[in-house]
Amino acid sequence: MKVALIGSGGREHAIAYKLIDSKNLENLFIIPGNPGTAKLGTNVDLNINDNQAILEFCKKMQIDLVVIGPENPLVNGLSDVLRANSVKVFGPSLSAARIESEKTFAKGLMKKYGIPTADYIEFNSTQYNAAIEFLQTASYPKVIKADGLAAGKGVIICDSFGLAQAALDSIFKDKIFGKSGDKIVIEDFLVGEEASIFAITDGEKYFLLPSAQDHKRIGDNDTGKNTGGMGAYSPAPIVTKKIIEQVEKEIIVPTLNALKNEGCVFTGCLYCGLMLTSDGPKVVEFNCRFGDPETQAVLPLLNGDFLDLLYSAAIGSLSRDSIQYNGGSSVCIIAASKGYPDTYYTGYRISGIEEIEDPEIVIFHSGTKLQANRLVTNGGRVLGVTSVLSNNDILAAQQKAYRAIQKIKFTDIYFRTDIASKALKIK
Ligand code: AMP
Ligand code: GLY
Repeated sequence: MKVALIGSGGREHAIAYKLIDSKNLENLFIIPGNPGTAKLGTNVDLNINDNQAILEFCKKMQIDLVVIGPENPLVNGLSDVLRANSVKVFGPSLSAARIESEKTFAKGLMKKYGIPTADYIEFNSTQYNAAIEFLQTASYPKVIKADGLAAGKGVIICDSFGLAQAALDSIFKDKIFGKSGDKIVIEDFLVGEEASIFAITDGEKYFLLPSAQDHKRIGDNDTGKNTGGMGAYSPAPIVTKKIIEQVEKEIIVPTLNALKNEGCVFTGCLYCGLMLTSDGPKVVEFNCRFGDPETQAVLPLLNGDFLDLLYSAAIGSLSRDSIQYNGGSSVCIIAASKGYPDTYYTGYRISGIEEIEDPEIVIFHSGTKLQANRLVTNGGRVLGVTSVLSNNDILAAQQKAYRAIQKIKFTDIYFRTDIASKALKIK
């Protein structure tokens, strides 16, 4: 099979790393890819938001399957354009991708179909006064979310009316989220541990990947600003078998059915961001794609043919027989550039990767590039240093990942020192 993978981050490097194991893979193209994926396939320099250019490439190369990594091309309708031209795609349609791109759609769907999530109310920018009135008598904390995509930054947790009013002003008046903030959702604050569960689905049948926990805040002990994710581990011991069963019954099955019922069958990876509350698991957010960095921790723990799994989902006939969790464990630590998630410098030489010869360490590239044949930093999140153990021992996986990241050197390197410590407290 000839496969085109869309994206250029650590998530796509991890997807490519699994795809190349497939006996059915003939050629892997990564659009546009990064220096890590260049070692696994052929990087192709096309704009991921140029649907027509990608379609032409797929036709010319007779691509059998397109796997779409990031949300932007999904929300830009790439899968619809490809499917309309008989190209098979792993990734939801534009209308199903609204589960991520329109919080009001996702919340409305959950309310209509009784899927557990925080209670909420929505307002649009012409309803500023009504929103203020609501916030004046609300109980706190409240969570204010921009309706549209905001690169993981569209959520403001407010402890008081004063903070909520400031948040409302910044969204509706100062337009900090642009058009994504034309509508907002105000929801109750949920208390508990967060976990991520990914369902690979053809719209009806699904296969659950091992559970994971992300670390969204920039600082140790979950302090400081929200980021795209500073590290992840898998499996998450807090996600017990009982919780998984509950999530399947109360969240995944009803959500897939709801989407189908609304005329937007979801094909791809349904990302369930959950809060495990004392009242059971509740949905914090859905995403319409694999999560990053969780994917870097989760995919190395699969045995079997990942390409077959994605292809079977794409053709609407999911086959789970050839794939399973291998019983192992994994910790991914993000090596970032100091200053991220705000401003940071790029172009610093990266060294040390070649010194890590441990087969239980995989280095995924996120923000790197080659400059005069040398690897340099090219983003906020630079590398995902990932330990992959064949047994389920998060402590050993954590120690191994931290030993490895000490060997990576670049100016302004920053990483959290407590990735996966949460898992160890639970045991
Ligand atoms: P989201 O982009 O919706 O995943 O939100 C980003 C982060 O904000 C989540 O990972 C949570 O840590 C936090 N968050 C979002 N919604 C809530 C909520 N209702 N209660 C508590 N924390 C939340
Ligand atoms: N790890 C969070 C996300 O992928 O949205």
